[in-house]
Amino acid sequence: MLGESPVDRFASIEPAAPAARATRPTAPPADFDTVSRPTLAAPPADFDTVSRPTLAAPPAPDVAVMQARSAAKNAKTLDELRTILDNFEGCALKPTASQLVFADGNPEARLMLVGEAPGRDEDIEGLPFVGRSGKLLDRMLAAIGFDRTSVYIANIVPWRPPGNRTPTPQESQICLPFILRQIELADPDILVCLGGPSAQTLLGIKEGITKTRGRWFAFETGKREIRAMPTFHPAFLLRSPLQKRFAWRDFLAIKKALDHR
Ligand code: URA
Repeated sequence: MLGESPVDRFASIEPAAPAARATRPTAPPADFDTVSRPTLAAPPADFDTVSRPTLAAPPAPDVAVMQARSAAKNAKTLDELRTILDNFEGCALKPTASQLVFADGNPEARLMLVGEAPGRDEDIEGLPFVGRSGKLLDRMLAAIGFDRTSVYIANIVPWRPPGNRTPTPQESQICLPFILRQIELADPDILVCLGGPSAQTLLGIKEGITKTRGRWFAFETGKREIRAMPTFHPAFLLRSPLQKRFAWRDFLAIKKALDHR
């Protein structure tokens, strides 16, 4: 404005850098992804077998019965039998149960009672007849002057079937050599079969419990012949309390038999 000749001031201004254009993100460097995330190396070839317990399929039922027979025969004491049973892999119920339910009470007792299979409470505690039916059994025994110091209690099947279902005949047959050996080693004077399945499995009878309860059967332990009586299962008595009078009759007969020996 003050000079004599016009000056193009704009001419002295450096041309502006071209406006930055919004650019699309370029692809990350080839190694970006692998650099920014921890690398997950492929597992070693034996990873799977190392990290998961191997669940070997149980043997075929007839093979399992043979294995059970020879394993049970090897037990010289009840403690040995418990250990052998705990290591036996031939019964498909073992992997789904929490633990072995071997026995409760006094193995020296003259009276032995055998039920069918552990339920939920027994599976948790590892002892037979500790749930509702066990409490009723305790009251029935108390009525004839017995408790768990004077009886020995076990089951045909020592592992809880899933959902408390009835053990299959195959499962019972596989476990049978163990309970037979358990009876032989405990050597009671009187055996009580709690419920039809126990009576049918141990005594080899086909008739139902209504026909057989209260009757005496001869039972060969392997050492000697003893007397065995089927009676109603306490779980059945909880559902059908009117039948308790028959069980009461059976328990009086059992008491009498023990008193007169
Ligand atoms: N019923 C059985 O037969 N056995 C148990 O131990 C418990 C319930």
